[in-house]
Amino acid sequence: MKKELKNLMIIAMEARNYAYCPYSNYSVGAALLCKDGRIITGSNIENASYGATNCAERTAFFKAVSEGEKDFVAIAISGGIKDMEADSFAYPCGVCRQVMREFCDEEKFKILVVKNEKEYEEYLLRDLLPKSFGPDNLAK
Ligand code: THU
Repeated sequence: MKKELKNLMIIAMEARNYAYCPYSNYSVGAALLCKDGRIITGSNIENASYGATNCAERTAFFKAVSEGEKDFVAIAISGGIKDMEADSFAYPCGVCRQVMREFCDEEKFKILVVKNEKEYEEYLLRDLLPKSFGPDNLAK
């Protein structure tokens, strides 16, 4: 694997430290690689209402888009019980996959699901969200 993506995985694991997850005690970190080389991190931010919780992946995407980034290469995601090394793969939820679909090329955008530096899985967005609905469906 390219050094750039290894680095992205490490940054996602570090981003878990900034999760605000007092209700689930499950921390998730994400690191989003932009085409210009910038890396934008995200963590899950929970809420006493539960429903207002934001996932790590969407935090990263919304931070990035709100700062003018719109072209993305890959996202690394790592999650598990807070303050412990991940012991399973934290796949992105359906809502986060749909947000990725809004901005990313299904055939090119990479999703790295990370347990640790040695144990990870790599997918294309198309693998995790096949036959999806996207902006092109609404194009005239
Ligand atoms: N979570 C994420 O941050 N990303 C996902 O794709 C799945 C779930 C968070 C939301 C919540 O704070 C915690 O994990 C437990 O569901």
